[in-house]
Amino acid sequence: MTPAVAGGPAPAQTRERGPVRVAVLGLGQAGLITLDKLLARPDRYHVVAAVDPHDGARAKVADSRVRLVPDLERLRTGEVEAVYVGSPTIEHEPQTEWALDRGLHVLVEKPLAHRAAAARALARRAARTPSVAMVCHKRGVDPGIRAIASLLGQPGRPRARLVSMLHVNDWVWRPRRPDEYDAEAGGGIVYRQGSHHFDMLLAIMGSASVVDAHVLDLGVPTHVDGAFTATLVSEQDCLATVVVSGYGGPAPTDPAAAHWPFGFALGGAAPAAAGAGAVGDKHELADRLRAAAALARRRPTPPRPFGMTLVQTDDTLLQTTEDGVLVHGRNGTQSIPVEAGEDGLDHLLETFFQAIRDGRAPTQDFRWGVRILELCEDVYRHAKASARARSIAVVPPGAACER
Ligand SMILES: NC(=O)c1ccc[n+]([C@@H]2O[C@H](COP(=O)([O-])OP(=O)(O)OC[C@H]3O[C@@H](n4cnc5c(N)ncnc54)[C@H](O)[C@@H]3O)[C@@H](O)[C@H]2O)c1
Repeated sequence: MTPAVAGGPAPAQTRERGPVRVAVLGLGQAGLITLDKLLARPDRYHVVAAVDPHDGARAKVADSRVRLVPDLERLRTGEVEAVYVGSPTIEHEPQTEWALDRGLHVLVEKPLAHRAAAARALARRAARTPSVAMVCHKRGVDPGIRAIASLLGQPGRPRARLVSMLHVNDWVWRPRRPDEYDAEAGGGIVYRQGSHHFDMLLAIMGSASVVDAHVLDLGVPTHVDGAFTATLVSEQDCLATVVVSGYGGPAPTDPAAAHWPFGFALGGAAPAAAGAGAVGDKHELADRLRAAAALARRRPTPPRPFGMTLVQTDDTLLQTTEDGVLVHGRNGTQSIPVEAGEDGLDHLLETFFQAIRDGRAPTQDFRWGVRILELCEDVYRHAKASARARSIAVVPPGAACER
């Protein structure tokens, strides 16, 4: 294992070579997809173990080389160099501390923690260790967003002036664990989906602060913060609006869902009340997502954009599409295709590998995760300051998603 010395990354000559020995913590929706991606890269990763307290979740791992254990205490830390933390958000802080204390590298699912203060504490702790500490914010490195970011911001390149993001999906209708409804535990649409948008915004604008926001709880199918709007501004005076609703979108079986440009519907049996019967359904949803990801690996298509993103520059309008990015200018429209196959998670896993083996500093370090959580909390601060926040109805409850 990389020696646990204080004060920055290990010198190149003391770093190990070959695949990184990694353990996966949490085998749910996020964890299983990441596990499959890790297993598909034997030159980069050797998955030594996986941890999940749920018997049914562990039973989904068919690869006999992966040692399956129900809790962290039974993980043999000497056999791993790194952990991927895909457990519920409320577990991120203690599990990341546990890993850093043992000199392990960590890749933590988004959001980095349930609160910005907890994330800041993790960032301070990580800075005192030689471990690579990354947050799995994969949307800001989706191929379309990377294509947009590469067109902007450099000297002589166009400058982003106005960013518009619109994302309408069935987030509130999907099965959930109780903590996913609770903003104090990092649940609700701002922390869970907004964090993706703030990741994309930072990748495009470089910096952002919230100037106005509203959060909506329409009370269907249960009480949860299910939609929000936010206006943000960058240090270069680029304005952004983000509108995210988990209340809408066509049902996944509706033909309109196939080309819905504002986000994807996943479906699943929504619980009648917060948490009721959600966990089993959630594992079923994880199975379907995993199957879809496996199909995408066999028949690669460009990864679908996460909602719609438009970037107005001084003289062009950039638009994410299913095939890549369109650049609309006065003299016509140019298409920048994105390659099929590699999505944002692939990119992050390669970045994590290179950070561990080559000492390359990743963008998605814990400070990145802190910035995003601070934006989420700023949304709530602004929403609470607005007396109107709880009384505006933007869509008729359940109109587009009755199941
Ligand atoms: N990057 C993304 O696109 C993305 C997508 C979905 C979820 N997430 C994030 O991943 C995390 C998990 O979300 P999910 O939707 O996969 O949840 P999930 O409920 O589908 O899976 C969580 C899994 O963790 C297990 N678990 C519970 N306590 C544990 C513990 N102490 N140690 C190890 N495992 C434990 C559960 O049994 C379950 O199998 C959340 O932080 C969420 O925000 C990220």
